[in-house]
Amino acid sequence: MYFIMKKIIIAIDGFSSTGKSTLARQLAQKLNYTYIDSGAMYRVITWYFLKNHIALSDDVAINNALQQIEISFQQNKICLNGTIMEDEIRKMEISNHVSEVSALAAVRNFAVAQQQLLGQHKGIVMDGRDIGTTVFPDADLKIYLFANEAIRTQRRYDEMLLKDKNIGIEEVALNLQHRDHIDSTRAISPLRMAHDAIKLDNSHYTMDEQLQIAYQWALEKINEE
Ligand code: DC
Repeated sequence: MYFIMKKIIIAIDGFSSTGKSTLARQLAQKLNYTYIDSGAMYRVITWYFLKNHIALSDDVAINNALQQIEISFQQNKICLNGTIMEDEIRKMEISNHVSEVSALAAVRNFAVAQQQLLGQHKGIVMDGRDIGTTVFPDADLKIYLFANEAIRTQRRYDEMLLKDKNIGIEEVALNLQHRDHIDSTRAISPLRMAHDAIKLDNSHYTMDEQLQIAYQWALEKINEE
């Protein structure tokens, strides 16, 4: 017999460095779904603003700049006006400014509209801060990923060290605390656990263990009547 599997929307939210992107990417691969890293969109916009010296207080300049930005994905890699940006947007300079940029209303409206378009045919796993609350409030499965701060700092440090041998763990810790604060206290769509999200604390799980748990939850939703 031939079954067509129901396609669902899976939202994964949580603080920085909880492992959202890893889980979202692996889950999408296992389900043959599309993976979208919404944080990468805010990072690309931040890169463009820095490159073009856009003042965050200048609404006209911000709106003009957004009109020059075309975001697309090629094999899970984010592109700005057709150029792959993965390496540039992971640098510390971008991490140091992205929370301020992503708190702006014009930026959020721009990014959220594109995220919603990307999910219109379902079959998507998207990770971010407001996916289950604002972007897809009707998402079929919402996972709120959690890990304690010391573990998140160590994970981010290990990741950054591969790219920059001079990075210090204190700098990484301060950046995480700064972004946690802004991301969860900003006026528009702050990071919150959606009331219907399931919390997954992966502080003491391996990547494979967290994947198996999330995959089972996804199968349950897909097989629901
Ligand atoms: O997931 P990330 O660390 O790459 O995200 C970078 C920043 O983008 C994060 O500090 C807050 C912002 N962001 C957001 O405001 N909303 C999202 N859905 C995703 C990210």
